[in-house]
This record gives sequence, C-alpha cells and structure tokens, in this order.
Amino acid sequence: MTQHYTSIAKFFHWLTAIAVIILLGLGMYMTSLELSPLMLKLYSWHKWIGISVLLVTVLRLAWRFTHPAPPLPDSLPPFMRMAAHGGHFMLYGLLIAMPLAGWVHSSAAGFPVVWFAVLPLPDPIGPNKAVSELFSMLHWLGAWALVLLLIAHIGAALWHHMVKHDDVLTRMLPGGRSTGALLVAALVITGSQGADAGAADAWQIDTETSKITFAAKQMNVPVTGRFGKFTAEIVFDPAAPDEASIKLEIDAASISIGNTQADQALPGEEWFAVADHPVAVFEASGFKPIGKNTYEIAGTLALKGHSETVTVMASIATSPDASDPQSLTAAATGEAKVSRTAHEIGEGQWASTATIADEVIVAFSLKARRKK
Ligand code: HEM
Ligand code: HEM
Repeated sequence: MTQHYTSIAKFFHWLTAIAVIILLGLGMYMTSLELSPLMLKLYSWHKWIGISVLLVTVLRLAWRFTHPAPPLPDSLPPFMRMAAHGGHFMLYGLLIAMPLAGWVHSSAAGFPVVWFAVLPLPDPIGPNKAVSELFSMLHWLGAWALVLLLIAHIGAALWHHMVKHDDVLTRMLPGGRSTGALLVAALVITGSQGADAGAADAWQIDTETSKITFAAKQMNVPVTGRFGKFTAEIVFDPAAPDEASIKLEIDAASISIGNTQADQALPGEEWFAVADHPVAVFEASGFKPIGKNTYEIAGTLALKGHSETVTVMASIATSPDASDPQSLTAAATGEAKVSRTAHEIGEGQWASTATIADEVIVAFSLKARRKK
C-alpha cells in the first residue's frame, strides 16, 4: 500500500520548492545587474520571498514533528536511508540558514528588511562592513551547497521513479492539491540635500561635531546618508531673530550612504551631477520664532540648477562656553522636507517615485561658537 505524505506536507514541499528555485535564479541574476531601479526591485523581492521561505519552513517543521514522513521502501539499503535522511536534514538546515544569513548580511550592509514593503523586521546587527562581507560569503556558499544538494535530491527522486519504480516520488506528488508560488526580488539607495541654522553675529561652525544627514525611502526601506563636507555662515541673536541669516554650502560630492555601489553612482549625471553642480546652497534670512528656542526658517535651496523654497524647522539654543568665558556656544538641530524630483535628483530610470520616494528628510545638527 502506498503511503503518501499528508496534503499539508506536500503543499509545504512544493511551495518551498518553487520559491527556492526562483530565489536561486533571482539571486544569481540580480547580483549580475548594474545598479538600477530593476535591480533594487529584484533585491527587495528576493528578500521578501526569502523571509517567506523562512516562515514557511518554521511552520513546515512544526507540521513535520507532529506528522512523521511515510517510511522508506524496505528494499532500500541502510546507507541509502542514511543518505536520504541526511540530505533532507541538510535541506531543512539550509532552508533556515540561507534566509538568516541573507537577513544578517542585508542588515549589516545597512539595509533593514521591510517585508513586502509593509512590515519592518527587527534589524539583527546594523551597519558593519566585516559582518556584511562574512555573511555575504556564507550566503553565497550556502547557495552553492543548496544547488549541489538539490541536484542530488532531484536526481534521487527521478532514480526512484524511473529506475527503481517505487513510490518515493509519487507519494510526494500532489495527489490532492498543490499550489503555485510566486515572485520576484531587491535592495536600496537614495539622494538628497540639506539646510539649517546657527547663532548672533558670526558663528564658527565646528565641522567635526556638526552633521548634515538625510533619510529617504527605497521600497519603504529607510535609507540614510550624510554629506561629509559643508560650510555655514550664520548670523543669529536670539534677541533679534528677524535679523538672523544663514548660508549653507554643501559639497554635493561628499554624499555617502555607506554602500559602495550607490556611493559611486550618486555623484554621477543621473543623481547629483557634481561635475556641473558641485555645490548645493541653502540661504535664508529672518527666523520666525514659533516656541521657546524654536524657529521656522523659510529659505531657498539651490541644487542641481533648480531652486526650491524650503521650510526648515529648527531648535537653536545658545549657552555660555564652559571652556572660554568670552565665548558662547550654540546647538542647532532641525529638519526640512525636500522633493528630490523638484531638483532632478534621480533622472531617467530613477525618476519614478515607485522605487525611491520623492520626499527626502534632511536633518542637521550643528555646533557653533562665537565671541560674546
Ligand atoms: C523538482 C524538484 C523536486 C523534486 C522532484 C523533489 C522530490 C521530493 C520527494 C519525492 C521527496 C520525498 C522523499 C521521501 O519520501 O523520502 C522530497 C522530500 C523533500 N524535499 Fe524535495 N523535491 C524537489 C525540490 C525540493 C526543493 C527545491 C527543496 C528545498 C530546498 C526540497 C526539500 C525537500 C525536503 C526537506 C524533503 C523531506 C521531506 C520530509 O520527509 O520531511 N525539495 N522531495
Ligand atoms: C532560501 C532562501 C534564499 C536563497 C536560496 C537565496 C539565494 C541567493 C543566491 C543564489 C544569491 C546569489 C549568490 C550571491 O551572490 O550570494 C543570493 C544573493 C543575495 N541574497 Fe539571498 N537567498 C535566500 C534568502 C535571502 C534573504 C532572506 C535575504 C535577505 C533578507 C537575502 C539577501 C540576499 C542578498 C542581499 C544577496 C546579494 C548578496 C551580495 O550582494 O553579496 N537572501 N541569494
């Protein structure tokens, strides 16, 4: 009498089989692509399907522990039973290890996973180049181990069916039902620029401790970066905010999101075109107080040949400098929303906001000092 796997076991097996074959092809294809919206989409789908495989495998193992597999044919010699069990054990191991390695690699590369662009998953490690490279290698090795195991696995199934004529293949075939699975795959990036504030006559910005950062969304994955170089001329006296002014010059080529491929692309024509537009300038005068130490600063951002009115919400606090009684220090933080498309940051294939959202939040944290 033929004993079949349960319908649920078959469903899990074939759903996983289709997803894994797609993941292997997709993984190899997407890593061969140049940076492009398609590449980012495929990376996202790869991650989403891969995490789904992890979830399905956990459910599948729970089912397996409570519903044993049908016994192998009596005619099978012990070493073949061991090979079959060992092979299945390793396949299950890889179905858990591969998604985990991909997840850690992605997180360490600075790209948290947002499952199907909806559910942000916990970030297991956060940016760490060495860990990212290690897990990228483990993921790659695992992928090839999986390919070899699957060749043996599929070969064995066909051998049972065509040479041994036993029921090992048929008992896994959808006697009742099966299901198709899915999908396609992806990664990350962005672009943008900044603006901001300081304090009374001329304040000297401390460029070591000051920062201009930005946050964008790529298929709902938050992507952050910074501009490493900028200068600021700030006139600000809390007693006379009307007379305050700011001019911020940002070196567009100093942009970085900490991903080599993206950092090479961002200064190029499609993004910041730094050869023609090396500097982004934010200028404003007259700070409107809206609360204690908080101001609304309306100014103009000139970036890549386009000017846009930008409103910066800033908090600026001045205090005596503990190390120098003749000086004051100021700390200014705040943010502004900037439209990347208004400045053609991301042209051609990048112009669609389906992959990279239009809105970019530029944040600053400036430290400055001046003589009393
Ligand atoms: C077209 C490709 C495939 C064929 C023809 C196939 C065939 C089979 C068959 C006949 C069995 C039952 C073996 C037995 O009764 O002892 C089985 C079990 C299994 N297959 Fe596949 N398979 C394929 C693809 C895959 C893929 C892609 C994976 C996962 C990466 C996979 C993972 C497993 C596992 C883990 C078992 C053990 C089930 C258990 O007893 O718990 N298979 N496969
Ligand atoms: C069973 C599940 C999975 C399989 C079979 C699989 C397979 C692959 C393959 C064949 C590659 C191309 C080889 C390489 O360059 O490393 C790859 C790359 C990659 N996979 Fe997966 N993957 C899985 C799950 C995941 C998951 C869950 C994530 C992230 C959440 C992920 C993230 C990545 C990334 C980021 C790359 C590019 C690696 C690099 O650039 O070094 N994978 N995957």
